[in-house]
Amino acid sequence: MTKGWSVLLLAAIAMPCFANATADPLAPTGRWSANTAGRAATPPMGWNSYNAFEFAIDEDKILYTAQKLVDSGLAAKGYRYINLDEGWVLKRRVSDGHMILRADKFPSAKVGGDTPTFRPLTDRLHAMGLKAGIYSELGRNTCGEAFGTSDVDLPKGNVLEREVGLYGHLDQDMALYFKDWGFDYVKVDGCGLRDYGPDTERVKSGKFRALPPIMDSNEVTRTDIPAIQAMFRQINAALVRDNPDGDYILSLCIWGAANVREWGKDYGGVSRTSDDIAPAWGRLLVNYDSAVTRTLYGHPGSWNDPDMLFIGTGDFDSHHLTEARSHFALWAMLSAPLIMGADLRKTPQSLMDIFGNADIIALDQDPAGNQAVLAYDTSDLHILVKTLASGDKAVAIFNRGSAPLDVSLRSSHLKFSDAAPIELTDLWSKQKTSFTGRTKLHVDPRETLIFRAHGTRALQDGSYLSEQPGSVNPAVDGLTSPAVDPTIFRTVAGWAGTGGSGDRPSYAGWGGARPDSTPYGKVLEMAGKQYDAGIGILANSRMEVRNTTARRFVATVGIDDSATDKTHPATFAVYGDGKLLATSPAMAWGTPARPLSVSVAGVKMIELVARAPGGDNARLPVTWGGAALMAR
Ligand code: GLA
Repeated sequence: MTKGWSVLLLAAIAMPCFANATADPLAPTGRWSANTAGRAATPPMGWNSYNAFEFAIDEDKILYTAQKLVDSGLAAKGYRYINLDEGWVLKRRVSDGHMILRADKFPSAKVGGDTPTFRPLTDRLHAMGLKAGIYSELGRNTCGEAFGTSDVDLPKGNVLEREVGLYGHLDQDMALYFKDWGFDYVKVDGCGLRDYGPDTERVKSGKFRALPPIMDSNEVTRTDIPAIQAMFRQINAALVRDNPDGDYILSLCIWGAANVREWGKDYGGVSRTSDDIAPAWGRLLVNYDSAVTRTLYGHPGSWNDPDMLFIGTGDFDSHHLTEARSHFALWAMLSAPLIMGADLRKTPQSLMDIFGNADIIALDQDPAGNQAVLAYDTSDLHILVKTLASGDKAVAIFNRGSAPLDVSLRSSHLKFSDAAPIELTDLWSKQKTSFTGRTKLHVDPRETLIFRAHGTRALQDGSYLSEQPGSVNPAVDGLTSPAVDPTIFRTVAGWAGTGGSGDRPSYAGWGGARPDSTPYGKVLEMAGKQYDAGIGILANSRMEVRNTTARRFVATVGIDDSATDKTHPATFAVYGDGKLLATSPAMAWGTPARPLSVSVAGVKMIELVARAPGGDNARLPVTWGGAALMAR
């Protein structure tokens, strides 16, 4: 496809968005708007080549890994995607734009003669019961071409031949990867939109054509978000066209730039929330923090992705089992993709056992798809609770700091009754213990205790929305100007080391909707009364809530005491399948919160709308206190 066509198509796909811009974004739609297309009903599991091999990939390594996953039993436990990262491309053939893969590295591809094909490799992986993934890029050129320290395994040829990204060739490339080559997963990177400005050395040297940047990882204000969204829309349209059976996953890889932590959920099966992980404890904290408060932005079909597992290397190797176990437990609690990055030719059994912990895998893959909620939040200790489809809870106690801690785990952290016994099963040792009310636990530095908990719900006959974030979508979260999130750890363990001025706050998404918290991390409070459970969101917002069996929705609503816009009242409305069911009076700051109790029997999609005409959303957090779905 020529570039002209691509631009036209982009414009056509982007248009409905502009047409809708005048429509009321808070009007109920009666439908779930986060992505469900493709095959990410649970977080994808598998292996990716990048952490182990960077660009030096070949068929032997890929097939060895595939066989090892099958032979070790890990494939049967869910690790099915074998994803090629960067390093597979030789060049783009300029005469017809066809992508030429490196047949010297992938001998089975030679059946295609001058036009080698990955089909034999994907056929082989499929015959092993596995799935195959490939790597591409939004721009013309890749991250490796921009930052690789050697070009040995990177594209060869003239300037145009080395343009191996989707830009200007999107439909052609996607058809090749999915229809012709039979891949099932594509990771789409974004350096081509960021790192090839006319003033960069790499462009001035004549090695690459300039593409004026539309993304800036440090400054979201210098990023053209609608243009990037339009590209992902075009990718989605191609995926649907090229996969009539719907068997595909789109992985957005723009590392938390472009405020994607807010909207990635609407475009793909998984979306990266931060820059690359590294085998260093500080990087784990950055990547974990980039996802841990984004609980309401991850759902079946649209998961937060804090990047691949780095278990096997550096701070997560077999000499650091505490850190390696924490990494695995935390990713499972976050409902993150479990994509290994280890060189399985050298991975000791102690680490294979971590990957193979079926009880922890089951938390990640739980069909309810509820990402864990922060039940206790400090800089050095986190308690995370994830509600499972069975009604059991998973609880992780994560010591982020450098001193051992004695922790009191309380039934209230779990939203379990303090009068009935709670049974804990340690998911590493399998030991069972039980307590009522509270129990004392010891947690070492960098250790994560992880349990499955069985108890009696504190809320009888119902479930708080904050216990079911996988079914709650902040379709419009009220954020109007993306601001950087100050809660994310910042580390020296990055690419620049102590060069530059440090790792400054850069990830947008501050002020997004949160369970059991205001958008800015405070305890929910209205008219002086605190609420342990509820949803905090900004004014002028709309949430979608899936309902299956509940007959009643209850909440106590009002403006949160932390609002600094005290002049604009908000009105709270509840819709069922698009019809208005209940509405509050206009609620002013500081006035007692208002209880709502609404019949939702038979309703499939509940929508919760908070309107504050003229209000300054960023300064106007509102609270759906104790919001819950009740059996009667
Ligand atoms: C980016 C991505 C990585 C990896 C590399 C490949 O940095 O974030 O996960 O795909 O590109 O060059």
